[in-house]
Amino acid sequence: MPADAATANPLTHRSEFASGLRPRRHRHLLRHVLNLEDFERMVEHRLPRAVFGYVSGGAEAGVTYQHNREVFAQWRFITRILRDVSRRSTATTLFGRTYAAPFAIAPMGASAVVGYDADNRMARAAMDANIPFILSANSITPLEELAQTNPHAWFAAYQKPAAENIQAMCERVAAAGYDVFMLTVDVPVGSNRENNIRTGYTMPLRPTPRLALDGLSHPRWLAGTGLRTVLKRGVPAISNIDPTQRPTIFSRTLGGVTGHAAFAWEQAELIRRHWKGRFVLKGILSKEDARIARESGVDGIVVSNHGGRQLDGSVSPMDVLSEIRAETGDMTVFADSGFRRGTDVLKALALGAHCVLIGRPFLFAAALAGEAGVEHAIKLLSREIDTDMALLGVSAVDQVDASVLR
Ligand SMILES: Cc1cc2nc3c(=O)[nH]c(=O)nc-3n(C[C@H](O)[C@H](O)[C@H](O)COP(=O)(O)O)c2cc1C
Repeated sequence: MPADAATANPLTHRSEFASGLRPRRHRHLLRHVLNLEDFERMVEHRLPRAVFGYVSGGAEAGVTYQHNREVFAQWRFITRILRDVSRRSTATTLFGRTYAAPFAIAPMGASAVVGYDADNRMARAAMDANIPFILSANSITPLEELAQTNPHAWFAAYQKPAAENIQAMCERVAAAGYDVFMLTVDVPVGSNRENNIRTGYTMPLRPTPRLALDGLSHPRWLAGTGLRTVLKRGVPAISNIDPTQRPTIFSRTLGGVTGHAAFAWEQAELIRRHWKGRFVLKGILSKEDARIARESGVDGIVVSNHGGRQLDGSVSPMDVLSEIRAETGDMTVFADSGFRRGTDVLKALALGAHCVLIGRPFLFAAALAGEAGVEHAIKLLSREIDTDMALLGVSAVDQVDASVLR
């Protein structure tokens, strides 16, 4: 194929050659992906069971995980007609910056174990599409490197509660050029994820014959992600949970990196004092906590149950969004957990969210087809939101309010 033909086609972007799959193969695969949920079905048998289970699973009996999808059915739209929707826009302004659509890629730890260089690939696709990308502290890609890939990325922290640690982390993130610091607050301890135990996924990773067999029986992942990561980028290390340390995924010191039971409002307020940019708390489900966040000078909250991965049996953000919104004042309100459709996003906007975060489908898209997969996912959801807005009879996201729902 001539070089200019390659650049003219979005699926033959530079990174696609680097993914190990030929661009034509990507196009073929992505033709079968018509919505965000299709990515999971497409990728399930391509990933080792332990890796797939780590991403797809929820906590304990999966009650919240399932509820996150079912909850949307309780609202129906009341469409409006003859409103000239020919000049509509999905543009959304968050923290003074205008993005192309009201959704973002949620922070996901260890993404680069799931798909080769997945953090950078998701970040690049998000930047090209002009939607926010949020890097997890638990990621393998150092936050400084990711900021080079996408200078508009946001950072989501897990960290130790010691005051000097908080200050040093704020300084590190600021020095890398980030404007938005998110603190994930729904992980005082690690949750009970039985599916990880069943498939052999542990953090730190304990190599076992079963895991080796799992990897060997998925040669595409083994060659394209596992071995390639080690050969090109070294043994994966969790890069952003500490100001200076980078424990490898095999390191014994890794246990409990996310769960810090001693974290309290006092520490969140300390971050607020040290962090000069926008400060967001992720993982709020109670209106009282939303009020405290507002009174503590927080700029935004993510109403979230962590995709059903923390306390099983917790409410969906959709169950509490409107009562939380009544307490948020000027804060920017995000929601996540189980959003897959344009109509899901519009329902959250109608209940008062400004933007929605989406996790698993983007990571599965990166695992399936690298950056082209993530681009495809963003396009699918953007197109759904755009079409659904027209059918609903609205031309701008701020026209979506409670009156469109029954
Ligand atoms: C594989 C995986 C890793 C995650 N890691 C983090 C993390 O490091 N920090 C965090 O705040 N949330 C993390 N989350 C939660 C997501 O940010 C988000 O809240 C959740 O995935 C949204 O639900 P959805 O996947 O149904 O869209 C993770 C989710 C997944 C699926």
